[in-house]
Amino acid sequence: MIKNDLFLRALKGETVDRPPVWMMRQAGRYLPEFMELKKKYDFFTRCQIPELASEITVQPIRRYGMDAAILFSDILVIPQAMNIEVEMKPDFGPYLPNPIRNLNDVNNVIVPDVNDALGYVMEGIKATKEKLNNEVPLIGFAGSPWTILCYCVQGQGSKNFDKAKEFCFTNPVAAHTLLQKITDTTIAYLKAKVAAGVNAVQIFDSWGGMLSPVDYQEFSWQYINQIIEALKDDAPVIAFGKGCWFALDEMSKSNASALGVDWTITAKNARYLTGGNITLQGNFDPTRLFSPPAEIKKMVTQMINEFGKDKYIVNLGHGILPNIPLDNAKAFIDAVKEYNA
Ligand code: CP3
Repeated sequence: MIKNDLFLRALKGETVDRPPVWMMRQAGRYLPEFMELKKKYDFFTRCQIPELASEITVQPIRRYGMDAAILFSDILVIPQAMNIEVEMKPDFGPYLPNPIRNLNDVNNVIVPDVNDALGYVMEGIKATKEKLNNEVPLIGFAGSPWTILCYCVQGQGSKNFDKAKEFCFTNPVAAHTLLQKITDTTIAYLKAKVAAGVNAVQIFDSWGGMLSPVDYQEFSWQYINQIIEALKDDAPVIAFGKGCWFALDEMSKSNASALGVDWTITAKNARYLTGGNITLQGNFDPTRLFSPPAEIKKMVTQMINEFGKDKYIVNLGHGILPNIPLDNAKAFIDAVKEYNA
């Protein structure tokens, strides 16, 4: 069905000539064609109009030919659909004017019909599938329940999400009620995305690393694992936990098809902690894309040698930064395509 199925084969653990490559946040502000559309339409408009979302999704594929596309959207469309107001303020980021602070607030949060509330995402997927013309697979995504809770309670980005953690530790009943509502919504949402045409899903636990190993199990992993269990027969699931190396052993025992890792762990330790059997994805330091292209290529080749070409998906350890030169992003992708074992 899909002409370049390297990414799906790596998710199955099959032997490949070279690993597949894509970049987290690959549709983004380092691309001039993205900036053109950003000038004309605000953030959520870009997410909501299928023609725009699909166009932005395929922009990086046209320019660089990654082995997978990721639907242009945001993890914060989930709280929006749950009746929580979310704004995207220019040069500031997400802003939630009425953050959740008590059980009463949690009780006002709804579990929506995702096809009603987020039908535009499904339309965006269908439009994207047409544009991709079965050249490469399409990834759908959601935030982890914990990472979504972080924004719902903190009300904005943060260095430590102290208010979100305080909420969990002072009001665990309210926190777990909210986490379960987010989990239920996310499961229905990802199933609808698969039905609309995505070939794999990734769960972004961007702030899992804010929690201690014990708290991570209680407030993050058990909910991610519910999502994996619910989705495993629908599509391959990638679980990316930034700063969550301490949980890799537990994560590797799940039914996830792959685990994403950031740049603070060596390939050797990541393979050791995950038992050597599960596909890993990562973990180039996004800031290293400021190095000269020749150096990037050397480092990427080295990274593939360390992870091994099989059961491996080349990626950054977190999203690409806005000011990365176009030639440097190209060097990252090309190094993988030119790789020979
Ligand atoms: O990977 C892709 O190309 C798909 C697009 C994508 C976006 N957000 C678009 C976006 C994805 C996968 C996300 C996920 C997301 N959103 C995460 C998890 C991944 C991560 O990076 O940790 C998080 C934590 C968010 C929440 C969010 N959205 C923040 C913190 C911000 C502001 C900070 C920033 O990077 O600007 C956003 C806005 C956002 N989402 C932008 C893009 C391209 C930039 C703003 C804009 O384009 O107007």
